[in-house]
Amino acid sequence: MSKPRLVILGSGGHAKVVAEIFEECSSFEIAGFTALSPTETLFHYPYLGNDSQLAQLLAGGITHAFPAIGSNRVRLRMLADLHQLGFTLPNAISRYAILSPRTKLGVAIAIMPGAVVNTCSTIEDGAILNTSSSIDHDNHIGACAHIAPGCHLAGNVTVGEGAFLAAGSAAIPGVTIGPWATVGAGGVVIRDITAGMTVVGVPATRLLR
Ligand SMILES: CC(C)(COP(=O)(O)OP(=O)(O)OC[C@H]1O[C@@H](n2cnc3c(N)ncnc32)[C@H](O)[C@@H]1OP(=O)(O)O)[C@@H](O)C(=O)NCCC(=O)NCCS
Repeated sequence: MSKPRLVILGSGGHAKVVAEIFEECSSFEIAGFTALSPTETLFHYPYLGNDSQLAQLLAGGITHAFPAIGSNRVRLRMLADLHQLGFTLPNAISRYAILSPRTKLGVAIAIMPGAVVNTCSTIEDGAILNTSSSIDHDNHIGACAHIAPGCHLAGNVTVGEGAFLAAGSAAIPGVTIGPWATVGAGGVVIRDITAGMTVVGVPATRLLR
């Protein structure tokens, strides 16, 4: 039986990692990728146009799509567009990730090699759990949040929509990181972070500009 055909949106580093995850799982045929310019490349895959061509790609039988763009805001917008167009949105979960069977998953989620999700956590649509990050029990990771490489969240942590927790950051049990907040690389969150705020350092405090 033929595999569902998949288009990857994007061609950057994140798209390359996502493409490899889909290659490993071999449940889909990667039909190609979309990007702003035909000069962009994604391994040997064909350039299928920019995102204005998505409706035609769907009509042509490419039924599955994955938004592989690092920007949380752009990814959120793409997700809405893909839903509206009627694409099926699979998750890209590395076979080298470890997920509790009690994990609740949305769609279009990227979970990279070495990531661990412990029991009873919920991961919403479009989230990225990057390389070797860990999400402990009872976390809630909002839509299109990005948990960057080597970030560690203790139990009962809530991460709002679009929040970015940079490489090597961490959070103690029970804290809430508001929507679209940023935790700088190496920052340790020990109290709640307000929506949209950028914090850095140990303990993480507001970055004043
Ligand atoms: C927090 C962050 C987003 C801020 O970026 P920015 O707004 O461009 O900030 P700047 O580089 O202009 O730095 C502003 C100030 O904050 C300090 N700062 C920046 N990041 C910091 C960090 N992670 N920890 C401590 N201090 C930091 C800078 O030293 C600078 O201080 P100064 O004004 O006294 O010189 C960024 O520094 C960061 O940590 N990015 C992580 C990226 C990452 O992990 N990506 C993973 C992709 S998979």
